[in-house]
Amino acid sequence: MAFTVAIDGPAAAGKGTISRAVADKFGFAHLDTGLLYRATGRRTLDGTDALDAARSLTPHDLDADDLRTPDVAQAASRVAAIPEVRAALVDFQRAFARRSGGAVLDGRDIGTVICPDAEVKLFVTASDEVRAQRRLDELLGKGHETDFETVLSDLQTRDARDSARATAPLKSAEDAVMLDTTHMSIEEAVAAACAEVARKQAS
Ligand code: CDP
Ligand code: CDP
Repeated sequence: MAFTVAIDGPAAAGKGTISRAVADKFGFAHLDTGLLYRATGRRTLDGTDALDAARSLTPHDLDADDLRTPDVAQAASRVAAIPEVRAALVDFQRAFARRSGGAVLDGRDIGTVICPDAEVKLFVTASDEVRAQRRLDELLGKGHETDFETVLSDLQTRDARDSARATAPLKSAEDAVMLDTTHMSIEEAVAAACAEVARKQAS
């Protein structure tokens, strides 16, 4: 049976961490839809046309280990504002969402555009400063040379572009449950998300 969990929110709010944990606990498949935009953006950095890149994505492109860099994140957010690029990625995401056995998708427009009928919708947020600190720790841990101010301004530029675009902007679905993780540990955030999934499964 299909059961879709839609998890949206701004950059570095904890969407991926929560999604992976929910997928693990309930035995659902997980799709990080940001990777589709990152892989598309990554190819434009080599000069490939954005729409050509989106239309010809392969599983290999999503596996590349250089998709988590700040440059690729900005390129992702630029190609994500092109309506034709978004349209080229819709069918794949919807098919993934309705697979039997359940699916968790995280991104910006899952609860609003990709899966408006998702059984569970969460909108995960945290303060800009907390998100920037979390992403900074992650980047420093991977050996990137950067600092708090750079990471904060990168997140804010992306969030502003993602929220302002005309097609599928970053925003909460009206029926999403808000999860503000500013003062939550990963364990607390995961527990809150799992409780919401269990509640909907039981109803
Ligand atoms: O997917 P998204 O960009 O929303 O965020 P993420 O990659 O899941 O989380 C960004 C970083 O914040 C990771 O290093 C998480 O371990 C960390 N995190 C945290 O410290 N506390 C939370 N409640 C959630 C995530
Ligand atoms: O991990 P983080 O939250 O920093 O970024 P991501 O989820 O990997 O997304 C990278 C970029 O892709 C975002 O800034 C958005 O511009 C775009 N994106 C989108 O437009 N729609 C989605 N469903 C997922 C990502």
